[in-house]
Amino acid sequence: MKRPRILSGVQPSGKLHLGNYFGAIRQHIALQSEGECFFFIADLHALTTIQDAKELRENSRAVALDYLALGLDAEKTVFFRQSDVPEVTELAWVLSTVTGMGLLERAHSYKDKLARGLAPSVGLFTYPILMAADILIYKSNLVPVGQDQTQHIEMTRDMAGYFNQAYRTVFPLPEARLDEAPLVPGVDGKKMSKSYGNTIEIFAEGKALSSTVMRIVTDSTPVEAPKDPEKDNVFALYSLFASEEERSALAARYRAGGTGYGEAKKMLVEKIDAHFRDARAKRKELAADPGTVERVLGNGAERARRVASETLREVREATGLR
Ligand code: TRP
Repeated sequence: MKRPRILSGVQPSGKLHLGNYFGAIRQHIALQSEGECFFFIADLHALTTIQDAKELRENSRAVALDYLALGLDAEKTVFFRQSDVPEVTELAWVLSTVTGMGLLERAHSYKDKLARGLAPSVGLFTYPILMAADILIYKSNLVPVGQDQTQHIEMTRDMAGYFNQAYRTVFPLPEARLDEAPLVPGVDGKKMSKSYGNTIEIFAEGKALSSTVMRIVTDSTPVEAPKDPEKDNVFALYSLFASEEERSALAARYRAGGTGYGEAKKMLVEKIDAHFRDARAKRKELAADPGTVERVLGNGAERARRVASETLREVREATGLR
C-alpha cells in the first residue's frame, strides 16, 4: 500500500512546553517513519490571536528551532511556514463558497474562544476553513491532532465532501489520528496549558528549570511519612521520563516514607535535563546559525508549493476558474 500522507500544523503561540511535547511533538517526530510527512508552522492561524509582528516572527522561528532540535528530519519531512504557500488561502476562499454558515457556527473551538473573551473577528470564525484548506491542498490522509481538534477534522471532511459533490472528486477524505497522549499536569496540578500559566518549558534549563519544578504543588505530608505516588504531580511528571523500573523504585520510596517531595523534584529535574540534553545542544547550534533554519524552511516551502499548486490547478479546472 502507498505510504499515507501525514500532515499537521503547529500554531506558533509561545514557548513549547512538556504538555506540547508529550501530547504532540513526540508523536510528530515518530510519525516521520510511518508516512510522507508535511509539518508546518501555522502562522496565518496565529494572526487570529497575535497582533505583534515581532512576537509572531520570534515565535515562528522558535517553533522551527524547537522541532528541528527535537528530531524533525527536514530531508524526510516537508517542513515549512504556512504563509510561504499562498495557494492555501485561495483554496480557503473556494471552500468558503461551498460551506454553510451553520457548519462553522457549530464549531466548539470558536464558541470556546468567544467564551474566553477573544474578539470574534471574521478570521476567527472562518479558522476551520483555512485549516481544511491546509489539509486538503496536500491531499492528506492522516492528520495527527489532539482531542480538541477532532471536530475541525470532521468539518474538513464535510467541506471536502461538499466540494467533491458540487464539482468532481478532487479531495480524499482525511482522517484524524488521535495518539494516546498521557496526562501531563502543570505545576498547579491542572492540565498543563499555556492559557493556565502552569507550564514547564521544554527548553528551560539551569535555574529557570529548577525554580519552575520547585513550584510544583504537592500536599503537606512530612518527609518521614508514607506518601501516595498516584496522587502526586511530581511523581506523575517523573513517570513520563522514567523507565518502568525507575518508576516502581520511586513509588516504593514514596510508600515507605522518608523521601520528601523536594528530593523527588531534584530527581525530576535530572530526568528532564538528561532527556533534552542533546536537543538543547542542537538547538543552540541551530540558533547560532539562522541561515540554516531559513534554508530548511525555504526548501520545505518549495516542496510544499509544488504539491499545493498542482491541487489548485485541479480545483481551478473543476470550478471553471480556468
Ligand atoms: N488548529 C491547529 C491547532 O491549534 C493548528 C492547525 C492549523 C492544524 N492548521 C492545521 C493542525 C492543519 C492540523 C492540520 O492545534
